[in-house]
Amino acid sequence: MAAGKSITVIRIGHRYVRDYRTLTHLCLVSRAFGAEAIYLEEIDDGLAEVVGEVSRAWGGDFQVREVSGWKAAFRQARDEGRTVVHLTMYGIPIQDRVEKLAECEKVLVAVGGPKVPGEVYRLADYNIAVTSQPHSEVAALAVTLHELQGGEELKKEFGAAAMKIVPSEKGKRVEKLK
Ligand SMILES: C[S@@+](CC[C@H](N)C(=O)[O-])C[C@H]1O[C@@H](n2cnc3c(N)ncnc32)[C@H](O)[C@@H]1O
Repeated sequence: MAAGKSITVIRIGHRYVRDYRTLTHLCLVSRAFGAEAIYLEEIDDGLAEVVGEVSRAWGGDFQVREVSGWKAAFRQARDEGRTVVHLTMYGIPIQDRVEKLAECEKVLVAVGGPKVPGEVYRLADYNIAVTSQPHSEVAALAVTLHELQGGEELKKEFGAAAMKIVPSEKGKRVEKLK
């Protein structure tokens, strides 16, 4: 993570049918791209287990936390001094706000599902679009985390791992640490 940056993520909306894979990907992208926690309105045991297993194997202390609702998460974010950045294709293109966003040291990034309440747009500090085209919360989140940290997250070291990848031109090399 960029020095001093503290980023959390919230997925707005209850778990949707057949959405398990998207939720898992939101958690894994948040973790890999330098966020410290994701807030969900409902946590499936299987999901917490999968993400916990990834952290035990590959390191870091990424947290999956339950929150009673997005408003509570926004309130908590404000109490923590976070800027709330809601991702939506209807927002201002990220390239037009990237300098301002990069100045924010503490951020809550909010992504939606199929339907986001209109109030979210009003209560967020920024409504940001990653292209003005419909796509996916997973893609929008990855690009936003990258831009917020100026690419520093690509060099993040994950502590206390059981194993570590040794990057190689061809094939797979994994070093066991424990
Ligand atoms: C299936 S999309 C719903 C699209 C929705 N109509 C919207 O407002 O972006 C689910 C989530 O993906 C994110 N998303 C999709 N396209 C996006 C884009 N171009 N820019 C930013 N976020 C996007 C938003 O967080 C959205 O709530």
